[in-house]
Amino acid sequence: MEKMLIGRGTGEAVLLSDKVNQHGLIAGATGSGKTVTLKVIAENLSAMGVPTIIQDVKGDLSNISVPGEMNDKLASRLETLGVSDFKFDGFPVELWDVFGAAGLPLRVTVSELGPTLLSQILNLNEVQSGILNILFKMTDKEGLLLLDLKDLRSALNYMIDKRQELSKEYGNISAQSVQSILRALLTIEDEGGDIFLGEPALSIEDMMKTSSDGKGIVNIIQANRLVQSPTLYATFLLWMISEIYEALPEVGNLDKPKLVFFFDEAHLLFNGISSTLEQKILQIVRLIRSKGVGIFFITQNPLDIPDAISSQLGNRVVHQLRAFSPKDEKAVKTVADTFRANPQLDTYSEILQLKTGEAIVSFLTDDGSPSICQKALIMPPKSTFTALDSMAMDGIVKNSTLNGKYMQSVDRESAYEMLNARAAQAEMDLENQRLAEARQKELEKMELEHQKALAKLEKERERAEAETRKAAERAAAKVDRRRKSAMDKGIDSLVGTVTRTVGRELARNLLGSLLKK
Ligand SMILES: Nc1ncnc2c1ncn2[C@@H]1O[C@H](COP(=O)(O)OP(=O)(O)OP(=O)(O)O)[C@@H](O)[C@H]1O
Ligand SMILES: [Mg+2]
Repeated sequence: MEKMLIGRGTGEAVLLSDKVNQHGLIAGATGSGKTVTLKVIAENLSAMGVPTIIQDVKGDLSNISVPGEMNDKLASRLETLGVSDFKFDGFPVELWDVFGAAGLPLRVTVSELGPTLLSQILNLNEVQSGILNILFKMTDKEGLLLLDLKDLRSALNYMIDKRQELSKEYGNISAQSVQSILRALLTIEDEGGDIFLGEPALSIEDMMKTSSDGKGIVNIIQANRLVQSPTLYATFLLWMISEIYEALPEVGNLDKPKLVFFFDEAHLLFNGISSTLEQKILQIVRLIRSKGVGIFFITQNPLDIPDAISSQLGNRVVHQLRAFSPKDEKAVKTVADTFRANPQLDTYSEILQLKTGEAIVSFLTDDGSPSICQKALIMPPKSTFTALDSMAMDGIVKNSTLNGKYMQSVDRESAYEMLNARAAQAEMDLENQRLAEARQKELEKMELEHQKALAKLEKERERAEAETRKAAERAAAKVDRRRKSAMDKGIDSLVGTVTRTVGRELARNLLGSLLKK
């Protein structure tokens, strides 16, 4: 177990590394020193190799990467604190941005986000979120991947088409309700939801790294634009803690946490959330500690955090709070009363009078009980107060080893493409059927013509045969006739030959006898 010196009052205000998973609260009016306290805690964690996740709402956190420099104010603070061996230092930072503008794009898929958080983002009523639940069941069953808003939209439209069939299986699905979910998607798109819903989705392990010199990575989520869309902001952070919760194994009580999550502007998280979701947050806050994860809530008004959750936050730093109205007074009173009382200290009036960078502090002690609260001066951060310029921030993003993995979005085959392909296939099947029918008709027509042609040919053949037959008969008759006349002619010539021969012999004999004589 390591001790982190966060401040000093009558004694040292020490945060114990093995109690960080008991969570914490940093509260205080604007300008009272919350962000600096958060930095001091994050720096200590990083130095002992524990990665952190922090949202940067005001753009004053990324400079945790650059060592600070001495000035009179700091020197006097260090003197009051009695710290003589203070060393400035910078810490390894990874910048993330849900809108992909000033950091590595932080993405989550629709299916990872799940129907509950999605309903929250889309501000759906009970009936509509019921339909969203059915949509997730249907797409699971049909193997349709829901990655981005395009997928969600196609799947909803498909749901309208298949409404009757689905209603039989899952209960009534009104097209109107589906239409209103489709309309809610437009709002999310306006808020930039189309940018952060998709792939490559964040693997939480990438936020749980240490640098080569063993320091825990400080993951800063650029949130100045994100807080403009409070629902999106809250939902995204909720998804992150539930993702961390689901991804990590049970480890019991560790010497030091595996990861610490700082929830800045925590009131946004609880503004108008459903009781189901509040229960879910409470459950995660309770159970995530045995996974070695600590959560710090940072807020201007500690009463914005529901009691059940607030009572789970063991380590408390309360900076100055103001009491302009009776309601404020009551709030400060409640906060003062939740501390383990210090007989030497009028906590209530002290809270109202704290100076910048001072706080009422109570951390969990070795035996797990909260320390008696004390008024403490908070340590200065080791990193600079000077804001980082955009070039330096760009440099961090460009040089990140995760740049290649997350910078480019990927659009792999999912519900949108699959449903489009299905529609195209159905169209093609119809076209093929049409073609097949046309071909069949054509064939039938050809067959008919063929038959006709055959019949005609047959007739021709018969006619030709008949003619041939007749011709043959005629020819035969002619031959007969010829033969007959030829026979007659044969006799004649025989007679002629005989005559001629006889004549010649006769003449020879005559001449011979004449010559002989
Ligand atoms: N521990 C400290 N050491 C040195 N200076 C401090 C310390 N705490 C606060 N300060 C000074 O007070 C200023 C305001 O503090 P900080 O930004 O932490 O206030 P905040 O409560 O986060 O305000 P906001 O609600 O507006 O974000 C700092 O910029 C710094 O100059
Ligand atoms: Mg601040």
